[in-house]
Amino acid sequence: MIAEQPERPRIVILISGSGSNMQAIAEACARDEIDAEICAVISNKDGVLGLERAQQAGIRTQVLDHKQYPSREAFDVAMIRAIDEYAPDAVVLAGFMRILTPDFVRHYEGRLINIHPSLLPNYKGLHTHQRVLEAGDKQHGVTVHFVTEGLDDGPNIIQAVVPVLAGDDEDSLRVRVQQQEHIIYPIALKWLLEGRLKMQGNKASFDGQPLPASGVQLVSE
Ligand code: GAR
Repeated sequence: MIAEQPERPRIVILISGSGSNMQAIAEACARDEIDAEICAVISNKDGVLGLERAQQAGIRTQVLDHKQYPSREAFDVAMIRAIDEYAPDAVVLAGFMRILTPDFVRHYEGRLINIHPSLLPNYKGLHTHQRVLEAGDKQHGVTVHFVTEGLDDGPNIIQAVVPVLAGDDEDSLRVRVQQQEHIIYPIALKWLLEGRLKMQGNKASFDGQPLPASGVQLVSE
């Protein structure tokens, strides 16, 4: 008798753009650093680089154009229907630039994670690199967090701190922050799929211990 292989955890990734974080996760899965299967990459925009990258990696892609739906609610209902076809263990927002309805967020509570280019709770929203430079901050970074109902809100899982250097502009800062994004997002996803990371109430815990508000913090030179 052939022993049945346990099913690998299933991931669905949502994108709107270049998909570099999706690619970092796909590479971590291909190297078996994350023992999971990416069932689909779903984009709300057609023609984006992320779709091309996913196809090149042999991952199934799907486009759900939000402009084809009469309301945010109708779009999110269609998204839930599409995502649930894959029965995912984790739903990963990787540059998915749509505000989600409370129903969507509740549906995936505890298995929905996002990456945001700032040290949350600082600088929610757009243009984070520019705002950090304008404020004269000495530190910037990126956060992976569980998604709750507010914009860029929810318990932090992991943060990488990136120093702001003299002479930095938006592009140089973005490049250094993105390098860290591609390191910390696969780590957070691995922890989630291994069951080490949980969201209980509005708090994240790791191996049964509550995480600090910042999440696990990595500081780079
Ligand atoms: C990333 O920098 C991510 O942190 C940001 O969008 C970019 C997507 O890049 N996300 C947000 O701003 C969410 N509020 P990618 O498509 O190359 O992964």
